[in-house]
Amino acid sequence: MTARPLAESRLPLPLLRRGKVREVYEVDADHLLLVASDRVSAFDVVMREPIARKGAVLTQISAFWFERLAGVVPSHYVSASTDEILERLPALRSRAEEIQGRSMLVRRTHPVPFECVVRGYLSGSAWVEYRTAGTLAGEALPDGLLESARLEPPLFSPATKAESGHDLNVTFETMATELGRELTTRLRDSSFALYRAGRDHAAARGIIIADTKFEFGLDREGALLLIDEVMTPDSSRFWPADQYRPGGPQPSFDKQPLRDYLAGLRSEGRWNGEAPPPPLPNAVVDATSRRYLEAYRLITGRELGESS
Ligand SMILES: Nc1ncnc2c1ncn2[C@@H]1O[C@H](COP(=O)(O)OP(=O)(O)O)[C@@H](O)[C@H]1O
Ligand SMILES: [Mg+2]
Repeated sequence: MTARPLAESRLPLPLLRRGKVREVYEVDADHLLLVASDRVSAFDVVMREPIARKGAVLTQISAFWFERLAGVVPSHYVSASTDEILERLPALRSRAEEIQGRSMLVRRTHPVPFECVVRGYLSGSAWVEYRTAGTLAGEALPDGLLESARLEPPLFSPATKAESGHDLNVTFETMATELGRELTTRLRDSSFALYRAGRDHAAARGIIIADTKFEFGLDREGALLLIDEVMTPDSSRFWPADQYRPGGPQPSFDKQPLRDYLAGLRSEGRWNGEAPPPPLPNAVVDATSRRYLEAYRLITGRELGESS
């Protein structure tokens, strides 16, 4: 079954949240169903055209990491197999095409209200902070680092989870004041362990995971679980390793065809960079889809099957 690209799911389950890209449904008191649509955003604007297979790529990359990193940190992951999910949720049988490959059954938690960002390269808001203040997450860094420089060791730069608007970068101390030092230290050390494992794995396969964001939650018994999505192109910066040149911004492994097209429109004065988005040519949509599939293939070493 070849699933059609999906702009948003509408399943017969209670909808808890519709994010920029994913829908979160309630399954029961202890489980959620996360459904990644094929929506894509660039420059913070969600495009109208869905990107074929993107949702399945995101979900199955997360599933790969949850399985592979289970020994590093326990997670909320239950299943990303559509057959298994339909087995457990027969009410969704008629919606098999809608959830195919893109859905993940997870254990429900109380999310920790901070994003645990790890940076192995100096980019984005971290580069802006360093350039203006010489610091990252409030801590001094050596002088003379270039934009996109590799950071060894990687740095922890947490952010608050803003309900609306942009997340706010905070220091380790701010987080420790709110959550306690013990939990904050565990979150930081778990994040480092996950990132190092992911960075090394991806680097050997041609993708630099420049930085990434982890989320954690506490289950009913108070156990700490890794939640949300893990080291996907949407929660991380993926760079093509063979094009890495410190001293400026790097191309995005997944979104560069889309960004280049939009940047072209902006420089010609044909788009102001804000919603509503411009229509995308098929060639741009297809090129972006191919990039996501390539990211899946490189990270996992497998082709994304039609049925996964
Ligand atoms: N196991 C879980 N338990 C509770 N909440 C979760 C779990 N996994 C993910 N979430 C939450 O689901 C939401 C997913 O929203 P998301 O699609 O990321 O939207 P946004 O665009 O706002 O980031 C996040 O708030 C995340 O913290
Ligand atoms: Mg999110």
